[in-house]
Amino acid sequence: MNKIKKIILKKNKTKIICLTAYSKNISSILDKYTDIILVGDSLGSVLYNFKSTRQVNISNMIDHAKSVRDGVKKSLMVVDMPYDTYKNKLDALKNAKKIVKETKCEAIKLEGGKKIVKIVKHLINNKINVMGHLGVLPQNKKENFKSKGKLPSEKNKLIRDAKLLEKVGVFSIVLECVHLKTAKEITKAINIPTIGIGSSLHCDGQVLVTDDLIGLNKSGSKFVKKFINLRKNIEHGIKKFREEVLNKKYPSKKYSY
Ligand code: KIV
Repeated sequence: MNKIKKIILKKNKTKIICLTAYSKNISSILDKYTDIILVGDSLGSVLYNFKSTRQVNISNMIDHAKSVRDGVKKSLMVVDMPYDTYKNKLDALKNAKKIVKETKCEAIKLEGGKKIVKIVKHLINNKINVMGHLGVLPQNKKENFKSKGKLPSEKNKLIRDAKLLEKVGVFSIVLECVHLKTAKEITKAINIPTIGIGSSLHCDGQVLVTDDLIGLNKSGSKFVKKFINLRKNIEHGIKKFREEVLNKKYPSKKYSY
């Protein structure tokens, strides 16, 4: 059975585990534990200190995705289409094909609902697997990064968008910072899995930016739980290295040619 079908079949059975990776070192650790590895355009802020994901370009995504690919064997690999690469059907297909060909990813992710649904349909008709992304959309200039879906008008729009995306064939939808009741309703209303980030336990799966959950990022949103504080561990190792160099303990004979 192909990886996409396996993910869809997990709905209502077992939760789906998705995490981001930007390099082989991380993807090779994640792969054993994840169903989906996402090369997210969050790499713009996490790695490059960009003000917004709008500054990420297709070369950034392809370079990192190639590295990630080397560490992924079993998980489904999804790559974000960066801002401005899917503004019309023609561009979207050309850029999606380039990403799939060069990175050997199995799917791509696009942000948005009704506005992009024709583009998504065009990609799927051309055999590109697509993951949707609704709620807070970081590529949107006016995005305020607060939660979405609390107001009835927002809730109804999100449900409509999710149904539209399902209808044209996306295999799952990321829900970013969607109010818990709305996330529950969307998850019930569609037959493909929802993958939540800051969108409650009601989603079919969860995704986090790995640098957040391992404590490499200093700050984080309300929904970020640091499952380990790697900054502390790294600091510990660096301090020991410094001490041993200063005390002429390292490199001892064992570490010398
Ligand atoms: O860019 C990203 O990492 C994402 C996740 C936060 C879902 O889109």
